[in-house]
Amino acid sequence: MKYNQVEPHINEDDIKNVNEYLRSGGWITEHVKTKELEKEISNFVGREYAITVPNGTIAIYLSLLGLGLKNKKIAVPNITMIATVNAILWADSTPVLIDVDENLCMSYEDLVVHKDLDAVIFVPLNGRTGDGEKINDWCKETGINFIEDSAHALGSSYENTMCGNLGDMSIFSFTPHKIITMGQGGMVLTDDQEKYEFLTNLKTFNRQKDKADWHEDFGLNFKITDLQATLGLSQFERIDSFINNKKENYKNYLRLIDNDAVSVLGFSDNEVPWFFDIKLDSLSSKEEFSNQLNKEEIETRNLYPALSKQKFLKKYRESELLISERIHEKILWLPSSNSLVEEDIEYISEKINSVNA
Ligand SMILES: Cc1ncc(COP(=O)(O)O)c(C=O)c1O
Repeated sequence: MKYNQVEPHINEDDIKNVNEYLRSGGWITEHVKTKELEKEISNFVGREYAITVPNGTIAIYLSLLGLGLKNKKIAVPNITMIATVNAILWADSTPVLIDVDENLCMSYEDLVVHKDLDAVIFVPLNGRTGDGEKINDWCKETGINFIEDSAHALGSSYENTMCGNLGDMSIFSFTPHKIITMGQGGMVLTDDQEKYEFLTNLKTFNRQKDKADWHEDFGLNFKITDLQATLGLSQFERIDSFINNKKENYKNYLRLIDNDAVSVLGFSDNEVPWFFDIKLDSLSSKEEFSNQLNKEEIETRNLYPALSKQKFLKKYRESELLISERIHEKILWLPSSNSLVEEDIEYISEKINSVNA
């Protein structure tokens, strides 16, 4: 038996629902199922509006366009998936790399020394919420925009609000390794009706309401399909069980891992552990650890490299990035699929405990 670091959780209900949709005579492309999904997710996080798009990268890009953030300076945490920073570059803006704190989220202290920013993209990385609310308050006081890249964090909450409901715009991603999946898919959320309408028009060719081939303005096609939305809705029906499963598996890893070379990174009760992460003392012990686990058919994944270490992004390093540039080498993600149950975590933990690194 091989344990993948992550895999999608597809059950018979998902298959039945997609099957029924295909037999329903629906036109497959975006229509009522997509609207239903937008309603479910915006209600869940408490946002007024949601706009579904083909993926999370496009969702971040559209958030930037929606807020007029072209040719601007935008703070981004030095540890995040590459899409966050590439969306900034796509919008012809300049990223400013900000160090992270022990939660692996953007550091408030490191952010506030930067005076000439136009916006912040905060990432509740791996479902941890860090200083997100404090940074949002600071953005409001400073008069700059806050975008929440909540790709990992469906179901997690800050102290006062759910992830996906912070700042001017927030986004989700629905790739196969996310909390719920529809293969590919992304969503922009906002409470601002004007921005919602702007992005909805932009993503549907800005077509006149009578559906003629007359167009109010420039527009593109960032629609998804009702086929995907059907899977998304079906997955979303299991959101509570996915969240409980992630939380239980995290507690079991925490209880069972007992190897002096390893520390299990913590989560608060309000956070949904997306991936289970462990920290080793050094790059070499992390590599040794993952090699030994791989020999046991237990797949791991390295945390994202610090953005400042990527060749094409080095020029955006404006200041010391002491934590992120050290910590990224030491963190490993363990098997984290929604299909894992207690016996799997017991088995994996036993193997972790017998590694000598
Ligand atoms: C933090 C973060 N933001 C954005 C994205 C981009 O999402 P997508 O892969 O749907 O484009 C990802 C994807 O994994 C991510 O991890």
